[in-house]
Amino acid sequence: MAVSDGLPIGALAARTGLAVSAIRFYEAQGLIRPWRNAGGQRRFQRADIRRLSFVMVAQRVGLSLPEIRAVLQTLPGGRTPTKADWDRMAAAFRAHLDARIAELELLRDNLDGCIGCGCLSLPTCALHNPKDRMGARGAGPRFLLGDVLEKEEGRGDG
Ligand code: FES
Repeated sequence: MAVSDGLPIGALAARTGLAVSAIRFYEAQGLIRPWRNAGGQRRFQRADIRRLSFVMVAQRVGLSLPEIRAVLQTLPGGRTPTKADWDRMAAAFRAHLDARIAELELLRDNLDGCIGCGCLSLPTCALHNPKDRMGARGAGPRFLLGDVLEKEEGRGDG
């Protein structure tokens, strides 16, 4: 089978480690666009291995399918993306990664202390989130969402 004939879905599944049903799902989501050969069977570009590999990794770092679709839409549809195409896509993706890394660092550095969630269950909560001051900022673990307690808020007289 010549490369120009494209990859059958089984070969794509074998190389990416994805289930055939997952590949069909990503096709339905518009993340890959196979064509049909004379026999009506789906055929994929070899470059779709890289696209799907990107999808898998992007999902693993927490990107949603709409975010992944938006990044992949910076790549050309009808032709194999060039290095320059991927460079452009990578630049668009880097901002997401940097934000994700910052979130993960915040989680790593704060998980053993008060996260400002309102539980007041740790000894450090009285110091870092007295009387759940952080609740006034909104729902959720405020410190893991990037909020900090201002000095004057920390004083118990508010
Ligand atoms: S950990 Fe929940 S309020 Fe401190």
